[in-house]
Amino acid sequence: HGYGHVEDVHFSFEGPFGRFDQFQLQRGLQVYTEVCSACHGLEYVPIRTLSDPAGPGLPEDQVRAYAAELLPILDPALGEERSRLPTDNFPSMDGDGMGPDLSLMAKARAGFHGPYGLGLNQLFRGIGGPEYIHALLTGYTGEDLEQAGTLLHANTAFPGGWISMAPPLSDDRVTYEDGTPATVDQMSMDVAAFLMWTAEPQLMNRKQVGLVSVLFLVLLTVLLYLTNKRLWAPHK
Ligand code: HEM
Repeated sequence: HGYGHVEDVHFSFEGPFGRFDQFQLQRGLQVYTEVCSACHGLEYVPIRTLSDPAGPGLPEDQVRAYAAELLPILDPALGEERSRLPTDNFPSMDGDGMGPDLSLMAKARAGFHGPYGLGLNQLFRGIGGPEYIHALLTGYTGEDLEQAGTLLHANTAFPGGWISMAPPLSDDRVTYEDGTPATVDQMSMDVAAFLMWTAEPQLMNRKQVGLVSVLFLVLLTVLLYLTNKRLWAPHK
C-alpha cells in the first residue's frame, strides 16, 4: 500500500496574517497532556510559556498547578526529586517503548516536497510539519504486522508505511471543555497546532515584524521616488 501521503490542512497560523488560535492551542495541550505525554516528552519547552499571550495564554496559577502535576524533576542543587515548577521545562521521556521528543517535531518533519525536487510546494504550502502530524495521527489503516517481536501498524503517512506507535487516538479520547466534538480528525489538528506552537513560539511575532518591515519598505520606496523627482526637477 501507499505511504508518505500528507493532505494539506488549513491552519489559522498560515499565511502572512496567520495567527495561532488560542482555544485550539489549549485543546492541543489537553490532547498532548492526556494522551501523548505518556510516551513523548517536550524537553525543550519551558512550562511557564503556557501563559504566553501569543501561546495558550493560561492564567499563571493554572500553569503552576499544571507544572505540579507533571512528573517530578531531579533537582541538582537539592540532590533529590521535587515537584516541577513553571520555571522548569516539560519532562523528557526516554526509555523502552517511548517515542521521540515532540518539542521541535512540527519543524523536523516535512509534509510537502517537490515538484521534481524544486521545493516549490514548500514555498507555497509551507513545510507541512503540522500537516504531517495530522496525517500521521489520522493515517492508520487498522492493518497490523508483527516483525522481529515488534508490533507494527500500517500508516499512510509514515515513511515506509509501518510505524511502531499504536494508534493513540479514537473518537472522544478526550473531553473538550469548550464543547468541540473530539473526533480523531479534530484532536489531530489541535495537537498538530499545539506542536507548531512548541516548535515556533515566536511565529506570530515573526509574521508581524515581517509585515511591518515590508510596509515600511514600500513607504520608503515611495518617499525616495518622490525625493528623487524633486531633486532632479530643476536640471531637466
Ligand atoms: C512516534 C506523535 C502518542 C509512541 C511519533 C512521531 C510523532 C508522534 C509525530 C514521529 C513519527 C516520525 O518519526 O516521523 C504522537 C502524538 C501523540 C502520540 C501527537 C498523541 C496524540 C503516543 C503514545 C505512545 C507513542 C501514547 C506510546 C504508547 C511512539 C513511538 C514512536 C512514536 C514508540 C516511534 C515510532 C517509530 O519510529 O516506529 N509519535 N504520538 N506515541 N510514538 Fe507517538
